[in-house]
Amino acid sequence: MKLPTIAALTLGCASLASAWTHSPTQIIEEIAPGSASCDQGNAECRTAKQAAPFIFKSLRRYNLNCPGQMAAVIALMAFESVDFAYKRNQYPGRPGQGTANMQMAEFNLEYAKSIDDVKDKVANLTSVDGLPDSELNRVLDLVVEDDYNFGSGAWFLSTQCGKEVPQKLSSDIDAGFEDYMACVGVTVDKSRLEYLERAKSAFNLA
Ligand SMILES: *[C@@H]1O[C@H](CO)[C@@H](O)[C@H](O)[C@H]1NC(C)=O
Repeated sequence: MKLPTIAALTLGCASLASAWTHSPTQIIEEIAPGSASCDQGNAECRTAKQAAPFIFKSLRRYNLNCPGQMAAVIALMAFESVDFAYKRNQYPGRPGQGTANMQMAEFNLEYAKSIDDVKDKVANLTSVDGLPDSELNRVLDLVVEDDYNFGSGAWFLSTQCGKEVPQKLSSDIDAGFEDYMACVGVTVDKSRLEYLERAKSAFNLA
């Protein structure tokens, strides 16, 4: 028997994607309320409407199809990018740190190497150690194009956190989020939890 695509994709998830009722733009805006609009003059900013197609495409690309996985990745990216207002680290303005996930330069190099259309431009680099700021920023510039910028969260979760963390997120989002943040190297504080709670609500997981 041939299962409908959505059902096949979500087998193994604790809850089904069909349980959510909001549009992609509504989901992003609910998780990242500031993304309803962008400040004039901030060229890095993207609204929920602009970001949503790239975000959901990247979740499919990296095979994160369970609502718990999607909610966690979007919550992290929304928090880190200040509701998708920034693609580059603002405070303290660390060279090479960025994307919606606001990941460190070493991960941006690895991410760049994983992208077919970009990897030739970083083929001469094996590590970010000792690179000048200009070179760290050159690598970052390669991955802040929208298609890549909004895919870093899904890439990171699916490649840097082992198999257990994505699995746990699919069945127990609260415990999974603790492990996910440990993998990212941060602790779950009040403001991160607020993003998680909004994400759970947006995906009908709360
Ligand atoms: C690596 O190659 C790029 C061109 O693809 C060049 O702009 C960059 O300066 C090179 N980096 C180093 C450290 O050699």
